Amino acid sequence: MGEIVIRRVKKEDLDKIAEIEVECFPAAEAASKQSIEERIATFPESFLVAEKNREIVGFINGCATNSPVIYDALYHDSSHHIPDGESLAVFGLDVLPEHQRQGIAAKLMNYYIEIARTDCRKRVILTCKDRLVHYYEYFGFVNNGISESTYGGAQWFNMTLTI
Ligand SMILES: CC(C)(COP(=O)(O)OP(=O)(O)OC[C@H]1O[C@@H](n2cnc3c(N)ncnc32)[C@H](O)[C@@H]1OP(=O)(O)O)[C@@H](O)C(=O)NCCC(=O)NCCS
Repeated sequence: MGEIVIRRVKKEDLDKIAEIEVECFPAAEAASKQSIEERIATFPESFLVAEKNREIVGFINGCATNSPVIYDALYHDSSHHIPDGESLAVFGLDVLPEHQRQGIAAKLMNYYIEIARTDCRKRVILTCKDRLVHYYEYFGFVNNGISESTYGGAQWFNMTLTI
């Protein structure tokens, strides 16, 4: 297994990231290429990629906000990003199927949590489906119940990691 390098995103990563998003999420939930481009431009400091043998195989990203939970407009409108907000959100954590179950998402998440800590955030917040609740609990996230989000027509749980 090649070495995994976690680094901040670059503008040139856009195409590959958009491809990974389409592979990892159903069409109703996948962020568009335009939306990913906007995220890279708006909060590159909280947009990380994982490289294996110099190829991008996964990424994590999200904006900062003063909201204690994720709400749908956060995903769609980057003007909701508050650079010194109390919460660091996770919009997406993706690892290409052929590279899953090797701890790559865990490396991305741990690095992301470290950034939140360094930036003195109060918490990291995300929403996830039922099947991933146990996965995020492993990092110390607590399940705060069903989210008001109807993103992609699915049911989501609010997860909070207090720093
Ligand atoms: C969810 C997702 C990001 C996880 O990525 P990943 O890199 O496979 O995650 P990890 O390797 O850290 O952990 C995944 C599982 O592999 C296990 N694992 C970690 N390292 C392992 C290793 N070396 N060998 C075997 N299993 C391992 C973990 O314990 C975990 O098991 P669990 O599901 O029973 O808890 C990935 O499956 C994905 O992109 N899915 C589609 C998009 C998605 O749903 N994203 C989350 C949005 S909320």
